[in-house]
Amino acid sequence: TPSAVASKSNQSFIDRMKNENRQVLIMYGSQTGTAEEMSGRLAKDLTRYSKKAVVVDPEDIEVEDLARLTEVEDALLVLCMATYGEGDPTDNAVTLVEYLNAGDCDLSGVRFAVFGLGNKTYEHFNEIGIQMDKQLEKLGAKRIFHLGLGDDDANLEEDFMIWREAFLPKVAEEFGWELNTEAETMRQYQLEPVEEGKALFKGEFGRLGAYERPRPPFDVKNPYLATVAINDELHTEHSDRSCRHIEFSVEGSRIRYEAGDHLAVFPTNDSALVDRLISILDFEPDRTFRLVNVDEDASKRHPFPCPTTFRTALSHYVDICAPVKSHVLKAISEYCTDESEKEYLNKLSVANEEGLKEYARYIVKERRSIVDVLTDQKTCKPPIEYLLELLPRLQARYYSIASSPRVNEEKIAVCAVVTKYTIGDRLINGVCTRYLTTKDAGSKSPVFVRKSTMRLPHRTTTQVIMIGPGTGFAPFRGFLQDRQFHKNAGKEVGAMHLYYGCRHPDHDYIYKEELEKFQEDGVLTHLNCAFSRAQEKKIYVQDRLWETRDRIWESINAGAHVYICGDARNMARDVQATLQKIFREVGGKSEYDAVAYFKDMEKTKRYQADVWS
Ligand code: 2AM
Repeated sequence: TPSAVASKSNQSFIDRMKNENRQVLIMYGSQTGTAEEMSGRLAKDLTRYSKKAVVVDPEDIEVEDLARLTEVEDALLVLCMATYGEGDPTDNAVTLVEYLNAGDCDLSGVRFAVFGLGNKTYEHFNEIGIQMDKQLEKLGAKRIFHLGLGDDDANLEEDFMIWREAFLPKVAEEFGWELNTEAETMRQYQLEPVEEGKALFKGEFGRLGAYERPRPPFDVKNPYLATVAINDELHTEHSDRSCRHIEFSVEGSRIRYEAGDHLAVFPTNDSALVDRLISILDFEPDRTFRLVNVDEDASKRHPFPCPTTFRTALSHYVDICAPVKSHVLKAISEYCTDESEKEYLNKLSVANEEGLKEYARYIVKERRSIVDVLTDQKTCKPPIEYLLELLPRLQARYYSIASSPRVNEEKIAVCAVVTKYTIGDRLINGVCTRYLTTKDAGSKSPVFVRKSTMRLPHRTTTQVIMIGPGTGFAPFRGFLQDRQFHKNAGKEVGAMHLYYGCRHPDHDYIYKEELEKFQEDGVLTHLNCAFSRAQEKKIYVQDRLWETRDRIWESINAGAHVYICGDARNMARDVQATLQKIFREVGGKSEYDAVAYFKDMEKTKRYQADVWS
């Protein structure tokens, strides 16, 4: 009931630990839900030792209460911390990280371990995990297991599997816990039928009817149901891919945004996949139910909004497309009637050499979702309610906003290349881009705006250099619209340099006419295009940067702000290298000074990145 939840949240997590005899506190810094999910898995692991943890979103607590952790006997603090953007904490962990870094609390006697989630394609790999691991030690806590450094660019799940498998025995040894073999397959949620006629969640997140009666502020827990105003194709008929330009109307919502912000979109799963699961597992899709936590003290009563129907949960609340996590494979292996299938799924879930190798091939490389695995392993029939407990929550996807409120504050534009490819005979669709292709004008979609720090310079006269190949151009469309507005209003505006790249001018050159118009209007003063597949030799944006190096150096010297958006893996790295080469060869800087100059531009926000992988 709501009142029970309310009173629970008034009680400090420290009191809960003391009153409910839980010595382990797990906190997470999570942006897309992975660190949160891993925290839940670690908590569940503890049941093997008949121990209970408190899993806490640092956003929901008074971080100062952490200082009282020393009051809990034999306290263990586990942090699952993702590093986000340019070495930053995730939104939900900002205050926690600030509080710990301030160094005002004494954690003597507390034991701790940190698992970091990062991505090696980014410059500040696992910055936050590393920082917290050091800082907790400084605060007097005792590290009982080495820092885990998960790399999402390679195989984050594998990193986590290895870490967790070694972590648990170490914890047990530290505290002298005994293994309880019976507890191993314990479920966390129990299915309760709900009588018909009760109000059901139909895809909302926070409260029933949230979409009919929207109430700001809108955020990840309370998205706004926007209306799609435009959904256009940006590629020509010569392209073998599809790129959509979509505008969401947020009229009347009081949602505000700026060029440079992101729009989060909550997708719905492909109904064909949902139907396949229904037929494989043969359950009544429209049954109304509620999943209730068997642990009455747990802060999370339901794994997703309940009551609802199986079909709604599979469509809106759980991810049925992601590569299956190892613990899910282990759990469902119990439901194979064929011994060899059972053995195989079990093997995949074990963090030994053979298991990891097979997991990396069968699940990661060949990208098998739960639907694929259940299609393959024909006798594997887990109960649907157990599967719903095991699958990760379906997450919102973030897109760089491709418009400026100064042109239209009630419409928010994004653009996205539709992900679609085959592996063997399986067609793999990107969850959200597939969903977006189905959203015709007039249809509705849950969204919210996430603020970013990437902004145009305060002064409209400051020059800007924008590097954005492909859909990396998105935020710069907003920047150009912004400056156009100021120019039209009679303000003096500085030069705008765009480095845009795509494969071929006749195939995937998005917003071509608009760019030409910005040029004509004198807003876009320097348009540099790199077409990679229009001639024999590839030409990339960094090649154009190098060709125009004298002008680039002159602009940067004159105070230009540099922005880069798009692929983090290769493009951003190559562009950075080219910029530093320009600093050396045109600017006459030494290798060391060129790096220092670049770092200084980053620090003073004269170099800003919005890159993804
Ligand atoms: P390619 O796919 O033909 O190699 C937008 O995706 C554009 O970015 C494409 O023209 C793509 O070229 C190009 N691109 C690919 N790798 C890049 C890199 N390392 N640096 C800059 N541009 C790159």
